[in-house]
Parts: sequence; C-alpha cells; structure tokens
Amino acid sequence: MERLKDKVAVITGAGSGIGRSAAELMSRQGARVVVADHNTQAAEETAAIIEAAGGRALPVTVDVTDEGSVADMVAATISEFDGLHVLCNHVGGTNPRRDLDLLRMDMDEFDRAVSLNVRSTLLGARHAVPHMISAGGGSIINTASVAALVGDVLQTSYGAVKAAVVSITKSIAVQYGPQNVRCNAIAPGAVMTPAPENNLPEDVVEALRRGNALPYLGSPEDIGHTMVFLASDESRYLTGQLLVVDGGMTMQSSAAPGRRAMLPG
Ligand SMILES: NC(=O)c1ccc[n+]([C@@H]2O[C@H](COP(=O)([O-])OP(=O)(O)OC[C@H]3O[C@@H](n4cnc5c(N)ncnc54)[C@H](O)[C@@H]3O)[C@@H](O)[C@H]2O)c1
Repeated sequence: MERLKDKVAVITGAGSGIGRSAAELMSRQGARVVVADHNTQAAEETAAIIEAAGGRALPVTVDVTDEGSVADMVAATISEFDGLHVLCNHVGGTNPRRDLDLLRMDMDEFDRAVSLNVRSTLLGARHAVPHMISAGGGSIINTASVAALVGDVLQTSYGAVKAAVVSITKSIAVQYGPQNVRCNAIAPGAVMTPAPENNLPEDVVEALRRGNALPYLGSPEDIGHTMVFLASDESRYLTGQLLVVDGGMTMQSSAAPGRRAMLPG
C-alpha cells in the first residue's frame, strides 16, 4: 500500500534519528523525499539508504535558521520534484548543559534555542505554504516535545520554545486551513535516538522507562509512523492538533508507579 503516492515530502534534520526514520518510512509509502540537514554527509547517507531500497530521495544541505538557505532548500525541491506537499519541521533542541534552571540558564543558549526551534519552524512554513496552496493543499508537521506540556528542573528554554512551536502550529492551521493546508505538531516523549542512547547514563534511562505507562521507551520509528499518518490523507480531518507520542509519560499520575504495589495479588 502506498499511502503517500504522488506526494513530495521535505524533512529537516533527516540525517539522523527520528528525521532519518521518517524519511525512510515516507519513502516506503511512495513519497519522493527531500532529506534536508546541515550535515551534508549524514543527508547523503540517508538518501543513499532510501535509493538503495528503491525509493527517490534528494539530499539537500540546509541551515534551517537561515532564511536564504531555507529558500534554497524549497527551490531545490521544486526544481527536482516539481511540487511540495509535506513539510516536517523537525530540527530542534537545546544543549542541556547550558539550558539550565532560571537562575543559571545561559541566555545566549536561549537565543540559539529560539532560532533553532522557533525561527526554523516559521521559515520552513513560510517558504513551503505557497507551494502547498498551488498544489491544492498540504501537510506541515512540526516537532514539539512533551517539554512544552510540563515543568522541569532544567531546560527552561527548551520547554518555552517547544510551547511556541505548538502555538505556531495552531496559527498556521487557522491561517491556511481554507486553502487545505493542514498543520499539526507531535510531542515525542523519551525517544532512543543516537544522542540519548550514547550519552545518557543507564540509571537515567531506567528512570525514564519507569516514568512511562508502557514498559519501554520510544524508538525513532514510533515517531516516524506518526509522521507518516499526519502526512497522509488518512489524517485529512486533523489540523492544529498536538499528538503526544510518549508511551504514557505525561498522562499518568506521578503516584501511579508506587501505587501498583497497593493492588491485591
Ligand atoms: N529524541 C528525543 O527523545 C526527542 C524527544 C522530544 C523531541 N525531540 C525533538 O526531535 C527533534 C530532533 O531529535 P532527534 O532525536 O531526531 O535528533 P538528532 O540529533 O538525532 O537529529 C537532529 C538532526 O538535525 C540536524 N541539524 C541540527 N541543526 C541543524 C540546522 N541548523 N539546520 C539543519 N539541520 C540541523 C543534525 O545534523 C541532525 O542530523 C528535535 O526537534 C527535538 O527537540 C526529540
């Protein structure tokens, strides 16, 4: 089944982790994929994986914080594939060693976070929307985080910028819904991409796992499959929404793991 047949999808941050997985999964569903990343070699690797599996992929080097670079990415997409129907604004994040609590957070890191998460989301959408309107509609998928929904002891900037991504998602959905352009966001919970897999101590990984209602942490594919759904026409009545894909991390009471011991038997 080709759920994305005839669609052209641009995915930023597709050189690694969740973005690479989304690019592969969208290609398997028939999309022609633009693999956009500032790491040229990583983008080329993802594109090679897709082409080796029989798909069509164009690697593009982009800095999502730079408007000229984003415009070039969209121009390359139109030149190669003659259309643009899906945009995943996936690049984001902050440095947890500099993005600390209110009194110790690095304000330069805050400015970088705004640029990498918020400015990038606005720029991607600004340059993609006119082509989506020309095509009769489209789907923008923004990557937020559960950090937009709950308070935390550190990463003050990260929560703030991801909440802004959720707000932007709703504005775009309202502004371009009449032209059949949908815009939704995903809030991943803990997902085992290369960065956390290589850097988080085992006890922190175990604590994250215990915090989920499900007995495991997320994989890049768990988010990639959700992106395929949002890219496809199966989600045609869904816009302006935040899909929380977190193994039940944010919906359960903090007392629930301890209260399991109170159950009889
Ligand atoms: N992994 C998680 O647990 C998790 C949870 C919630 C949200 N997220 C969000 O998912 C997104 C990416 O996460 P990931 O785990 O796939 O990360 P990742 O580090 O595996 O991939 C990020 C990619 O973005 C690219 N990139 C970085 N800066 C760029 C720039 N300026 N221009 C273009 N490309 C750039 C990198 O080269 C890399 O290939 C972020 O928005 C992050 O906040 C991740």
